[in-house]
Amino acid sequence: MTTKPMPKPKPTFVADIEEIRKRARQHILDGAVTGGYKGDRQTVIKVLNEALATEIVCVLRYKRHHYTAKGIHSQAVAEEFLEHANEEQGHADRIAERIVQLDGDPDLNPEGLASRSHSQYVEGDTLVEMIREDLIAERIAIESYSEIIRYLGDNDPTSRRLMEDILANEEEHAEEMKTMLESIGEDEKRDEKKTERKAAS
Ligand SMILES: [Fe+2]
Ligand SMILES: [Fe+2]
Repeated sequence: MTTKPMPKPKPTFVADIEEIRKRARQHILDGAVTGGYKGDRQTVIKVLNEALATEIVCVLRYKRHHYTAKGIHSQAVAEEFLEHANEEQGHADRIAERIVQLDGDPDLNPEGLASRSHSQYVEGDTLVEMIREDLIAERIAIESYSEIIRYLGDNDPTSRRLMEDILANEEEHAEEMKTMLESIGEDEKRDEKKTERKAAS
């Protein structure tokens, strides 16, 4: 009589759960960061603080542009600036929340803000200059956030997903600024031609 070989014990999911629970209990004081966290926490917090500074500088620049926009096209553009300022504030809030989850301190110290930020605060005199500066800042944010996302990889998927979400929004911002720049440029050319025609007649 042949005895059936004993079936291999299936890897118990329960055991894994137990292990996960144990780790979570051990590091309960670390808040959302569990023993399974693979990132280099201090570096992640530092990188997120730079993104936070970038967002705050973007809020300030868009607000400045919102309040100082002048000219024929100013109303629609000024509204767009305000909308972007509010969205950048939303990004800043989400990044600050994540830093706290990682047991870090969100750095909102105005001192050194501009040097921690990846993008710059440029006021701009005309509407076109303002839009151009915003477009440049969005492009810088897109570059540096893509870099952050690559750095986070699989080591901190929560921070990575957050940055991916924000990146998608910055891409929309850049696209909107580009469209605005083009349409204002075309309007200005048309106005110049009209003035030339008038002068010639
Ligand atoms: Fe943003
Ligand atoms: Fe943006």
